Amino acid sequence: MLEKLKISFTEPNAVKGDVLVLMVGEDPCLGEFSSKVDKDGGGLITRAMVAASFKGTSGSFLELWGSPSLGVKKIILIGLGKSEELSSSDWLNVGKRASRCLRGKGIDRVVIASDGLAVADQIAVFTLGLRLGTYRFDKYKSQMGSEEKGSVLSVSEIFILTDQVEEAERLYRPFDGVADGVFFAQDLVNEPANVLGPEEFVERLGVLTDLGVSVEVLKEPDLRGLGMDALLGVARGSVCPPQLVIMRWNGSGESDETSVPVAFVGKGVTFDSGGISLKPSGGMEDMKGDMAGAAVVAGLMWSLASRKARVNAVGVVGLVENMPDGNAQRPGDIVKSMSGQTIEVINTDAEGRLVLADALWYTQDRFKPSFMIDIATLTGAIVIALGNEHAGLFSNNEHLAAQLVDAGHLTGEKLWALPLHPEYDKQVNSKFADMKNVGGREAGSITAAQFLQRHVNDTVWSHIDIAAVATLPSSKIDSGMGNATGFGVRLLNQWVSSNFE
Ligand code: BES
Ligand code: MN
Ligand code: ZN
Repeated sequence: MLEKLKISFTEPNAVKGDVLVLMVGEDPCLGEFSSKVDKDGGGLITRAMVAASFKGTSGSFLELWGSPSLGVKKIILIGLGKSEELSSSDWLNVGKRASRCLRGKGIDRVVIASDGLAVADQIAVFTLGLRLGTYRFDKYKSQMGSEEKGSVLSVSEIFILTDQVEEAERLYRPFDGVADGVFFAQDLVNEPANVLGPEEFVERLGVLTDLGVSVEVLKEPDLRGLGMDALLGVARGSVCPPQLVIMRWNGSGESDETSVPVAFVGKGVTFDSGGISLKPSGGMEDMKGDMAGAAVVAGLMWSLASRKARVNAVGVVGLVENMPDGNAQRPGDIVKSMSGQTIEVINTDAEGRLVLADALWYTQDRFKPSFMIDIATLTGAIVIALGNEHAGLFSNNEHLAAQLVDAGHLTGEKLWALPLHPEYDKQVNSKFADMKNVGGREAGSITAAQFLQRHVNDTVWSHIDIAAVATLPSSKIDSGMGNATGFGVRLLNQWVSSNFE
């Protein structure tokens, strides 16, 4: 866990820092506060902007030396573009960018002035971005100097100047726990599979109990007793025993018996070698992140509990390792899932849907949730269809799909809806069993979703395929950052807060 960054909101008056960060609108437009700093510094800022052709466009920034008269060592200008056009997720990105500018600079105190360009809710989202941008995963970089390691490094405190101190504080407060939930998910995804197998994943979930989440673990004999042979089949080739974890947060104030929860189900394949249908070796290391869906569910439970969300939520994660030993499941094997339906395993690399089939059935059967949302790094085909920009969304209910798409717009964790249809469903019919676990080359993400739908009755359900967005490509990450995005924690947290609170 990162050492927590100290953030305070204060009125734009006497606060002094080593570094002053000023937000600048396009054209460029200096706000009242920045103009005053510029004047006090003898036109320092305006001259630098002209010299560097800094126009305040979105994504641009400019670092300048401070001056003794201003009492700051450095000034960083952050370009906003047309600030009145910035969406909530744009403000989040400005915050992330700001924290990247600050990293590794040996700075103690930072003062950030939004300069009237942002209102309280935008400042709160900016601040969330600022915290999210501090994420590091450098615990295995043993040669990295201590001054390089850590979050925003030596920054000990950040002051954010605003006229609306109380409002910004109130709006930011819940985001602090959300950021912790995102970090929790990122840590789980970044951890290598020799360190984090199904059992270690379960151990890590222990911290949730301190937040008031109940954590129940079903072990192999329990899963056997429940008839979860689809999930168990995947785990057969690994020395790591499978686990199914049920996390519960009851924040609605109603008692357990009377309240209908919302349910989240995550794919937790701690390593996906493909099994006997072994994957090619290029890029296989990324399959340590095949538990990202489960990590997101865990991070979401963290977020909901830490901000005391007024909702009853269940998080269920199926944790297995997909490996090819002498006891492994074979192509052609037929297993019976908890639903009683038989599945012909054509390809042992289509394992996520086998795990989810049992986890989904179990969740709807036991909890009768009002809504059930699963999240999974399910198919390579979604990477081809949507790239890194959107996660794939599938649903048996248009209203739920629309709510989730809206939450995606608000958070910047965007979703794109793809169809379910009986014609696609036919593709997973099997000649030997009730269904097979692959549906051929065409529409691979859709047939995977159809397979899942066969394990959902009339529960209102959505499936989110995050295979393309759970991790960043190596071209987009720096050393010591890890590649996990935590995509889905903020999205689902937003969905809860928009629709249940
Ligand atoms: N975990 C993979 C999907 C994946 C691919 C996640 C790329 C992240 C990045 C999944 O278990 C898988 O192997 N799916 C197969 C299914 C196929 C055998 C029908 C795939 O997409 O190739
Ligand atoms: Mn696979
Ligand atoms: Zn997988």
